Amino acid sequence: MTVQSGELRSAPRTAAPPSQVLLNPGPVNVDERVREVLRHPDVCHREPEAADLMRNVRAKATAICGGGAEHTSVLFAGSGTAALEAVISSVIPADGKLLVLHNGHYAERVSRIAAVHGIAQQRLEFGWTQPFDLDRVDAALAADPGITHVGMVHHETSTGMLNPLSEVGRLVARHGRSLLVDAISSLGAEELDVVADHVDWCVGTANKCLEGLPGASFACAPRALLEQLSTVPPRTFYLDLHGHYASQEHVDAPLFTPAVQALYALDRALDLSLEETVSRRSARYAGLSMLLREHLVRHGLEPLLTPEHSASSVTVFRLPEDIDYTHLHDRLKEAGFVIYGCPPPLGRVCRIATMGNLSEAQVRRFLDAFDQVVAALRATASQH
Ligand SMILES: Cc1ncc(COP(=O)(O)O)c(C=O)c1O
Repeated sequence: MTVQSGELRSAPRTAAPPSQVLLNPGPVNVDERVREVLRHPDVCHREPEAADLMRNVRAKATAICGGGAEHTSVLFAGSGTAALEAVISSVIPADGKLLVLHNGHYAERVSRIAAVHGIAQQRLEFGWTQPFDLDRVDAALAADPGITHVGMVHHETSTGMLNPLSEVGRLVARHGRSLLVDAISSLGAEELDVVADHVDWCVGTANKCLEGLPGASFACAPRALLEQLSTVPPRTFYLDLHGHYASQEHVDAPLFTPAVQALYALDRALDLSLEETVSRRSARYAGLSMLLREHLVRHGLEPLLTPEHSASSVTVFRLPEDIDYTHLHDRLKEAGFVIYGCPPPLGRVCRIATMGNLSEAQVRRFLDAFDQVVAALRATASQH
């Protein structure tokens, strides 16, 4: 006898979604060479083929962060926040303190993770859309020797702001503190070098500018610092960074079941990322962003940031009074394009990303669809 709840009996089979051009800031459209690895045969995560896979992904993740022989990466099954929470909850000791450089939604997340784990922190708030004031960072570090770690988001994806990693890295190193970076939406498309930029803890994820599939994330750090964590009591069981490191590094096996298929996809995506190089990927994304920017400005959409502060992969636009975000989103979705909203403090805006396996032809088709949708929305509005 098969047992089914009433709910299950009435649930239709989930249909495959139509093919869509994703202009949200990850997950992204992926190269077919990444998608095709999902057809690999099933594997057991405690067999040598899974160990090879994890070793390869760790080495390539470290390479994309600019790490040398003294660095390694620790893999997590989970989205970027999993690796971020593993780092924040694991590396700041009970008597430590985190200085959070805050100018948007994802810096707020860093701060909230620290708060959940009862970690002492100071928030240095610059205001959403505002660049860091390095003099204030300098002064805060000079004023409080109790600050052991500094946390920052490299690309603040909520506003599209690229924060000045190298400058902060130099400052933090000069003060002898440890720098922790959320590079979740920058790795692969923005210059970042954990050695030159003095980054101790660098967090990345598969499904943004590395152009992999969701489900895998990682933290890159010097092996010596990871070893030192053995003396720090973990604040969480599942996200204990040292536990994952020790298992992956010394036992050559995952601590818990990894997202094996997402790791195969990440392995292939990292090959493609390393082959394209960060500078060429960054130029590809930025070229598409510029195309969007020039076109949308002509329709009265105002970019939130000037190009000098903008990351290559995300542009936020203020919407004119006569364009409603939900209508815009829904009509564009019908045409096959997914755009993204923004967290509330930014008001009437929309976010358009150019990350992923996206061609100029697709962006030009999007702009045609945009013109038609906006003309239709304006025509409807003028009839009321
Ligand atoms: C800078 C940054 N940090 C953290 C996250 C959270 O990542 P995830 O949704 O993969 O957990 C995002 C997602 O957009 C992000 O852009």
